[in-house]
Amino acid sequence: MTTDAQNLSERLLAALIGAAELFTVELGRELGLYAALRDRPADAGELAKTAGIDERYAREWLEQQAAAGFLTVEDGRFALAAGASDVLLDEGGPHFLGTAGEFAVGLGLLTPRVAEAFRTGAGVPYADYGKHIRHGIAAFNRPMFDHLLTAEWLPAVPEIESRLRAVPGARVLDLGCGTGRSSVALALAYPAITVRGIDLDPASIKEARAAAATAGVADRVSFTLGDAADVDGEYDLVTIFEALHDMGDPVGVLRAARGRLAPGGTVFIGDERVEDTFTAPASEIERLQYAFSVLHCLPATRAEQPVIANGTILRAPTLLEWARSAGYEKPEVLDIPNDFWRFYRLR
Ligand SMILES: C[S@@+](CC[C@H](N)C(=O)[O-])C[C@H]1O[C@@H](n2cnc3c(N)ncnc32)[C@H](O)[C@@H]1O
Repeated sequence: MTTDAQNLSERLLAALIGAAELFTVELGRELGLYAALRDRPADAGELAKTAGIDERYAREWLEQQAAAGFLTVEDGRFALAAGASDVLLDEGGPHFLGTAGEFAVGLGLLTPRVAEAFRTGAGVPYADYGKHIRHGIAAFNRPMFDHLLTAEWLPAVPEIESRLRAVPGARVLDLGCGTGRSSVALALAYPAITVRGIDLDPASIKEARAAAATAGVADRVSFTLGDAADVDGEYDLVTIFEALHDMGDPVGVLRAARGRLAPGGTVFIGDERVEDTFTAPASEIERLQYAFSVLHCLPATRAEQPVIANGTILRAPTLLEWARSAGYEKPEVLDIPNDFWRFYRLR
């Protein structure tokens, strides 16, 4: 084998190991096995009993997880490895990535449908990706909403921050709100505001309403099922987090948002942090975004009868051009650091 072939084959083997292990992480999450191990180490019989699963399967999973380094084993009892609780169980915590397996399963489940879409040119509706992708996205983004949105991102734009703090009853519109985590985080941080989230996906809206009720902010946070291009009301702030690239008429959405801004109001967008121009090979994060684009975002947007089907890779020059086409005079890229997203302010 040539060195190039050897390198590529080693890379794919490592990816296969990672993918297979991700699916076993999803078994642990779905069946509550990590949660069962959180408080005390267990052997296969004890885990089977606590989690209500078959003992032979429990033993195989425990051994595999220890072989993979996710668990440790001592005297026949298995425990979470150092850091595993933060990453696998602490949903909402800054290190949580416990739904990485769920995400991978969601992408894999729909791959045959995507292959068919490649042949026909049809789309695959967002709703058809189901709970794995919906929850995968929500859990991936939630730590950023809970820990960065109101602690770092909005304070970086003092006019927005002061308006949300100082204007009684300031109104926020959260377009493409998904399961509502950004809307809820905003309401929790700014006690005088009202937030309205809009999303096309019925299951997301249902879960968003439940999230607002659980957080005790349902009196100030409402959710509407609908297209972001078709909004009513007047707002001090319009937010769009990792959703503009998914929308079938992004310029129409930005134009509609502009028409709904109160005097002095602002649109604040977080979308993918990718290179300004096509670059190959790309960074790891951009490679991840491109894979999502092929497997999920592009097929989902094509199901919207789109005016534009952009895919995940929304480059800054494209977004700024869309904003100018939608009538914004001062679209700008904000200097807010983040590994995954770039931020924009449109006025
Ligand atoms: C990647 S998810 C992001 C969800 C959420 N903002 C978050 O960060 O967790 C993109 C969301 O955009 C929604 N979406 C796509 N097209 C839309 C449209 N035309 N109008 C409203 N929502 C749309 C999808 O249903 C999905 O919930």
